[in-house]
Amino acid sequence: EPGLCRVEPFGAYAAARYEDAAAILKDPQRFSSEALAITAEPSWLGPNPVAQALISKDPPNHARLRALVNRAFGPTGMARLEAQVRKVSEELAEAAVRRREVELVDAFTFILPRNVIGYLLGLDPSTFSNFKRWSLAMGLITSATTPEQHEEIRFVVKEMKAYLTAVIEARRRQPGEDMVSDLLRAEVDGRNLTDEEILSFLFLLLPAGMETTSQLIGNAIIYLARYPEHLAQAREDKAHIPRFIEEVLRYESPIQLNFRIATQDVELSGTKIPAGSFVLGLVGSANRDERVFEQPDRFLPGREKGNQHLTFGYGIHFCLGAQLARMEARMALEALVSRVSSIRLRSPEVQWLPGYTIHGPAVLPVE
Ligand code: HEM
Repeated sequence: EPGLCRVEPFGAYAAARYEDAAAILKDPQRFSSEALAITAEPSWLGPNPVAQALISKDPPNHARLRALVNRAFGPTGMARLEAQVRKVSEELAEAAVRRREVELVDAFTFILPRNVIGYLLGLDPSTFSNFKRWSLAMGLITSATTPEQHEEIRFVVKEMKAYLTAVIEARRRQPGEDMVSDLLRAEVDGRNLTDEEILSFLFLLLPAGMETTSQLIGNAIIYLARYPEHLAQAREDKAHIPRFIEEVLRYESPIQLNFRIATQDVELSGTKIPAGSFVLGLVGSANRDERVFEQPDRFLPGREKGNQHLTFGYGIHFCLGAQLARMEARMALEALVSRVSSIRLRSPEVQWLPGYTIHGPAVLPVE
């Protein structure tokens, strides 16, 4: 039984087992994110807008950037946000339950993370309506094929750059209690972030903060509908909600794949991988590895042996926004379950998003 499988037509090597997927993420020397950012740079776009952000860096560059942005995501920053997230969740949930039939992606699961990332960065709410289009275009960078798609993405990158540069300049003139101001103030070993690094980080954060969290909340609502007993339990005891969310994260991971490039010939679980190959960690599969999770194909919140899913990654690139995403999902579910005793999907067949990286409902009509 070979450890990794070859995925055509890309010739990538895919790790389906937990141990192999974790081994790839644990080893940035041999499985590089920096080489990936360079290799995946599209010639029609010019410099990849997130190339200077920490997700595109290996040691030692990664550690410096992570130290500079870490504080902004620490407990103080999250506590500052929690009341705001609760308020937005309550308002959106209240508006949604007043309607007999409602499409929850537009009315709830996307709008909540969109507004939260907007508040976090101190952006002007009148500009939030652009974020969906921006995030869709950013998500297409590596897979866009048609001239029209290329044109749209180039346009969006220009638009975002102008917008974000203006935000950085405004915060420099007048710092506030927002993350862009925190990033401008951040200093490690006497060095600050350069404007280019801040810009690249914001290009990463805007979609990263919206898409995945939106899918997590959408997937959680699907499971509240499928398992009314968990909805009842969550209504009785709020402490059930975090356990439920962890199992949704494992069972329906909003990100299904991690990409790296092998920097040298390497052998992993008996598979020889040549230098320069694309290597994929199949998170969705690893999260259901029976070597790690008992009864992996059952949805069991509060797993006795813990829930060490790989949904937020592993090692140096472990998701910076994991606590924020968990907090948003908790606030969203608390606001919903306190208002409804049942959720009915209008169609039992969920219409999932197309593509194989981001996983969640494209639309979520409920009654
Ligand atoms: C990194 C997943 C929410 C910001 C990552 C990685 C994963 C991930 C798998 C590692 C990528 C890799 O190793 O190449 C998720 C999921 C989320 C979520 C499943 C929601 C359910 C967020 C939010 C933010 C965020 C809300 C910020 C507002 C980041 C950043 C990194 C990252 C900045 C890069 C960290 C580094 O390179 O050191 N995320 N994420 N994420 N995430 Fe998230």
